[in-house]
Amino acid sequence: MATTAELERLQELDEAEDRRIARFRDHPVLAGTTRLRRDDLHALLLQRRFVSHQFTPAYDLVIDLLGDETARRIARTILREEYPDGSGHTPSHREDMRTDLLQLGITAEAIAASRETAATKQNIADSFELLRTAGAQPDADLRLLTILRFWGEVLVSVEYTRIWEGIGPELTAGGENRSRFYHPHLVHDAKARPLATVSLLSSTHSDRLAMRLSELLARAPSTAFFGEVEDEVVRLKSRFYDQFLPALPGDDGDAAQPPGAVVVGDVVDVEVAGDEVDDDVAVEGVVDDDAGAVGSAGAVGS
Ligand SMILES: [Fe+2]
Ligand SMILES: [Fe+2]
Repeated sequence: MATTAELERLQELDEAEDRRIARFRDHPVLAGTTRLRRDDLHALLLQRRFVSHQFTPAYDLVIDLLGDETARRIARTILREEYPDGSGHTPSHREDMRTDLLQLGITAEAIAASRETAATKQNIADSFELLRTAGAQPDADLRLLTILRFWGEVLVSVEYTRIWEGIGPELTAGGENRSRFYHPHLVHDAKARPLATVSLLSSTHSDRLAMRLSELLARAPSTAFFGEVEDEVVRLKSRFYDQFLPALPGDDGDAAQPPGAVVVGDVVDVEVAGDEVDDDVAVEGVVDDDAGAVGSAGAVGS
């Protein structure tokens, strides 16, 4: 049973985590999946498929590096769920993903012809480097569980929830939800309960990992690493979506400017010595966008 001080510590971590989740949810590409051209949305799905293919190797790596037996057991059971039914009659989750892609009109030929972009390759390499670096720290168990839960479950649910806005109408036409992969995952991966009150009653992947993570966090000598590691995961995942920013149509139908870009002639609010420049004067300024800062501030390879 956690003490009051431990619960307060978990609540603080939770609130900061929820702010991070909200920031990632607002990434312009994730917030704009309904505005992407169909071809561009398909390109995004095909690139995201390569990240999904690395999900089980990432779990295997974490299981290798974890010292905590309870955490290893939770990770093992989640990994085994990826390949249901030992008889071979039930498709794996990655096969379910292919079924959804085909249902969306992406052809088997397009799937076969697709290749990772440089940005996707780098993103996958960065993800594994983040895990390996965490696994070499004295507090490796805490760091690995934090990353696995946040990178592999909590934010995955956020990604698929946003992607569902773009693909859901097509997969639910006729009133039936035909999604085999995206919709089930946005549900069963989600953070359903706060770290401070997670319990056996919740069975999502995020919350099952949180069961052990919250126990370890409550008695950790320091939790400063938690925010740093989660911020790094948000930056890493945002970089994957940054590659699709040019595909996002602007309000006037043009390709969108990446967040943070200087747009000559745009009317923006600029503070000059405490005075706001008149709104009707066109000035050169930096488009304010939190998600852009998230997307571009990360150091590659960390
Ligand atoms: Fe899965
Ligand atoms: Fe999951």
